[in-house]
Amino acid sequence: MESDVIAMAIDLLHGPTEGTGNLTSGGTESIILAVKTCRDEAASRGLDVVGANLVLPRTAHLAFDKAAHYLGLEIRRVDVDGDLLADPSAMADAMDERTLMIMGSAPCFPYGLVDPIPALGELALERNVWLHVDACVGGYLNPFAEREGVELPEWDFRVPAVRSISADLHKYGYAAKGASTILHRTPEQHAHQVFSGSDWPAGAMTTPTVAGTRPGGAIASAWAVLHYLGVEGYRERTRRILAARERITAGLAPLGLRVYGDPRLALIAFGPEDGDDLNIFAVWKSLHDRGWFSGVVANPNGIHMMLSPSHEEVADEYLRDLADAVATARGGADAGPNPPVRYA
Ligand SMILES: Cc1ncc(COP(=O)(O)O)c(C=O)c1O
Repeated sequence: MESDVIAMAIDLLHGPTEGTGNLTSGGTESIILAVKTCRDEAASRGLDVVGANLVLPRTAHLAFDKAAHYLGLEIRRVDVDGDLLADPSAMADAMDERTLMIMGSAPCFPYGLVDPIPALGELALERNVWLHVDACVGGYLNPFAEREGVELPEWDFRVPAVRSISADLHKYGYAAKGASTILHRTPEQHAHQVFSGSDWPAGAMTTPTVAGTRPGGAIASAWAVLHYLGVEGYRERTRRILAARERITAGLAPLGLRVYGDPRLALIAFGPEDGDDLNIFAVWKSLHDRGWFSGVVANPNGIHMMLSPSHEEVADEYLRDLADAVATARGGADAGPNPPVRYA
């Protein structure tokens, strides 16, 4: 089942036929494995990897910091550009001879934006460093959004410098929680992900992921849902997500709200126009009190939404409540905790 899912994923993300990978327990494990593979491949070339660094846009998921924490590496976060996208020249400035990896998101969690992966690819080739794409959110959404006519910069193995991709089945793959994929361009590269040992009384042990004994249920669920939905099933769900996003974003400007950046997929963040002192966290609290549990972002402050197909049915109801919440906040409602409690 794992081989079948990996073959489908490599094909979907335009990988070479020799591309390979594994199912993991989630995006964080896929990212830890990508960083570990990169580190160990560099060590195999004789580089001193202790305390070496990874250069990331500020919007990268904190799973990279967790990976660096576990693996003895340093994280360098770099400001994004005016469009909230990874800034390759600022990232180049933050790199040095101890940089092992750069990455971009497709899309990033805070704003739902796809970083300029082709430009990051050029930087990676120029400096001979590993390029990872974090497509935990988009790996099983972007291919179908593109089939629906959504224009994205090339973000997957079509970009020659991309060496690994994390893509979660338990997000827009619609599998049960506990399923992600880590994908590699070549088997030689993947070999650095694998752990092997034999210095104990019970013989050799070789495991490709962080787990020893691996849970089969999540893998079976992922395999089943991919086969059950098929390309048409994913496309149909993607159409509903895109419709929900378009309806919600179209309803924001009349309320004096703006979307941050140019999100084209399923995640958005929005808040007041520059110079408007509307307390968006008060709006969030008011919506929360009405039963709408969404996230928030900071700097700029905003409401964060991760849309699913069923949000299409409630988009109009949400916009009505949002209009009321904005009016209440403009009338001076209690701001609540700042920033408010985070609901995942
Ligand atoms: C872009 C991105 N990368 C990585 C992760 C981490 O995934 P997980 O929570 O499955 O470990 C997330 C989770 O939301 C994400 O949005």
